[in-house]
Amino acid sequence: DKGNHRHFMEKEIYEQPEVISHALSNYVDFHGHTVKPVDAAIDFKSLRGLAVSACGTAYLSGLVGKYWFERYARLPVEIDVASEFRYREMPLYKDQAALFISQSGETADTLASLRYCHEQGLKIGAIVNVKESTIARESDAIFPILAGPEIGVASTKAFTCQLAVLASLAIAAGKARGTVSPEEEKQLVKSLAEMPRIMSQVLNSIQQQMESLARDLSKFKDVLYLGRGTSFPLAMEGALKLKEISYIHAEGYAAGELKHGPIALIDENMPVIVIAPYDRFFEKTVSNMQEVAARGGRIIFITDEKGAAASKLDTMATIVLPNVAEIISPMVFALPIQLLAYHTAVFMGTDVDQPRNLAKSVTVE
Ligand code: M6R
Repeated sequence: DKGNHRHFMEKEIYEQPEVISHALSNYVDFHGHTVKPVDAAIDFKSLRGLAVSACGTAYLSGLVGKYWFERYARLPVEIDVASEFRYREMPLYKDQAALFISQSGETADTLASLRYCHEQGLKIGAIVNVKESTIARESDAIFPILAGPEIGVASTKAFTCQLAVLASLAIAAGKARGTVSPEEEKQLVKSLAEMPRIMSQVLNSIQQQMESLARDLSKFKDVLYLGRGTSFPLAMEGALKLKEISYIHAEGYAAGELKHGPIALIDENMPVIVIAPYDRFFEKTVSNMQEVAARGGRIIFITDEKGAAASKLDTMATIVLPNVAEIISPMVFALPIQLLAYHTAVFMGTDVDQPRNLAKSVTVE
């Protein structure tokens, strides 16, 4: 049932504050401001590293997770798309654990990667939405995403709930390893607890702007997304979402890679969507934006209040989100990216929930 919404995708975008709050409550104690203990099957304290694998959007949430595990838990993460991971014959060690991320829990390549790690004797954790799925069944520890059924082929709420789970696990891992202090744990969990409210505020405040911007975006054939840090995987997720449902060609790049190739493409026909919260990368990303502007590129700038005040560049549009803690910015910044793709597709008249050539669950290689 779509409720008041035109498409499941729209419904699922707007459900995010509620489902993410539900997902988080499984991993954090909102009142004590602590993370809950993690399933003992994965002993973060004694791990030498994590191997992570997934496909599509789930892979991109894993990439964000890599930044968190490395930063907060000082835990090295080896991550690859499952279709490569399963054949790479990478050396794995028993003191590594493996994490697989999947909405459906049935993705063939992800399952094959899981079985490979299992044969190597690694403990297996599954971040899945469907708890009865094959991936869940074959794992030592299940970390449910708790997003509720996701019908739209383009993943939205499963993505942000995967992020919420990964953020909580990274903090729990940091706590176990002594790299996150009790004070830091408290701050991080407080930020996570604020997220559902901030997400609903953002969804309400940007809707109209996203709709009118989508009209402009629908006129283009190619779009480039740029970001640094956790905004880099988010840039790739933005590009994936747009191409899946609007069929506009889009690429996501690390902003620092611009001058190593994609800058050759910049002209007035290819808008550049820059994802830049006012974080420790902001100045660097703005200098990449200047390079785009100097070549006549049009910029769609997704930033926060501090970022908007700090940049004086002319843009095609600036989307201003509230200033938020760094740990929650990927979930909050996912919202304009999802809405922009959604409204562009609606405007172009594509089949938003069932885009051509795609299946919700990819159970063949
Ligand atoms: O069910 P899974 O999370 O394992 O699916 C992985 C990908 O097939 C999936 O994320 C796909 O990329 C989505 N269509 C993205 O919107």
